[in-house]
Amino acid sequence: MTQRWSPASWRERPAKHIPADYPNPAEVTRVEAELRRMPPLVFAGEARRLKTLLGDVAAGKAFLLQGGDCAESFKEFTADNIRDTFRLILQMAVVLTFAGGRPVVKVGRIAGQFAKPRSEPIETVDGVTLPSYRGDNINGMEFDAATRAPDPERLLKAYSQSASTLNLLRAFAGGGYADLHNIHRWTLGFVDGSPLGARYRELSDKISESLTFMNAIGVTPESHPGLARVEFFTSHEALLLGFEEAMTRVDSTSGDWYDTSAHLLWIGERTRQLDGAHVHFMKGVKNPIGLKVGPTVEPDDLLALIDALNPEDEAGRLTLYGRFGSDKIAARLPRLMEATRRGGRQVVWATDPMHGNTLKAANGYKTRPFDRILSEVRSFIEIAESEGVHPGGVHLEMTGQNVTECIGGARALREGELSERYDTHCDPRLNGEQALELAFLVAEKLKAERQAAPRVAAE
Ligand code: PEP
Ligand code: CO
Repeated sequence: MTQRWSPASWRERPAKHIPADYPNPAEVTRVEAELRRMPPLVFAGEARRLKTLLGDVAAGKAFLLQGGDCAESFKEFTADNIRDTFRLILQMAVVLTFAGGRPVVKVGRIAGQFAKPRSEPIETVDGVTLPSYRGDNINGMEFDAATRAPDPERLLKAYSQSASTLNLLRAFAGGGYADLHNIHRWTLGFVDGSPLGARYRELSDKISESLTFMNAIGVTPESHPGLARVEFFTSHEALLLGFEEAMTRVDSTSGDWYDTSAHLLWIGERTRQLDGAHVHFMKGVKNPIGLKVGPTVEPDDLLALIDALNPEDEAGRLTLYGRFGSDKIAARLPRLMEATRRGGRQVVWATDPMHGNTLKAANGYKTRPFDRILSEVRSFIEIAESEGVHPGGVHLEMTGQNVTECIGGARALREGELSERYDTHCDPRLNGEQALELAFLVAEKLKAERQAAPRVAAE
């Protein structure tokens, strides 16, 4: 199988959720050829670095924080939005590092997270039926026939937006903005005045004090560059395999294939068929990869997928994101964790507490209750601890903006308020304040578990 792998060999396998209804397929081929000539967005060496860091997570020595939009969009593409997502991740990472006492690996769902698998391929409004919206790199959200028709030019626009986004992220990560001495400046405007803002200030005061002390004894950004910059990585669901194929290149250092569209790519819950195109494609690229694991996965299915995707049992290669729902996790996760632990598989276990907790509010809005999201994360940590597995990370849909998409949280957002700033292009995201609140609550839980049962592997 591996001998016959090429970036294009997925085309011989059944592929779900890849649009086949482009009005002019020749145009898709032309665009893909153009993408093949475009520079890589990330380098193989960076993807290897992330794999090493995720190896630390697999070994219980670090924690993964992954988050960003459900779907990036052309409309919400602004420098402010990118900065706000970036600084929210920095703030959350500070909270988690401080409580967990372990480094936090920071990965954005950003700079390429456009394509969406949809449960319904078509949508009917007032008797008119059109293709569903599938992400800005495929079609547009407005409900008219021209906008909903897939347009391959959108792939080029998404590539270019990803390149600009990455350019800014690289500048933020290394150009001084992420210097820990700026910790007070990362606060998001609308969170600043809230109780959470006060809690964050209290924490950042403590860190600033420690920095002053460290500075006095000679630990400075000059002697320790890690104080002045962060390592930040990108990720998205590898759904549109034509695009991923075009971005897959041979790394001149190792001679291996890397998908250079992002550092980490994941396989979604709807495309994880063992013999399907998505699993096949991911087998051949050396990036760190992820796999969503939903409530229908049985232990044997999971072990078969792990063996297919990580045959050499390389630590950091494979991250599993459990996404069961707060009401199902207790029945499903323990057996899966037991299977990976007993089988001695080196994987990162993380939780995506968003996708199993979506519901429709009475007023028709798709939403997610904050308390169910939190409950799934708490159950995840408890189950991991009792199964002897490191609760390795969280994968969140969130934004630095003050949106009203998930109900609950410290301000107890109500269903009636959802319409105020419901801006998502797909699923409801935590707003900046809810995400920070979640980080504090997760941090407390991790700290309590750590104190109750210190893990040998973590030391
Ligand atoms: C997603 O992460 O946006 C997504 C579609 O998740 P899942 O595949 O787990 O449903
Ligand atoms: Co989503």
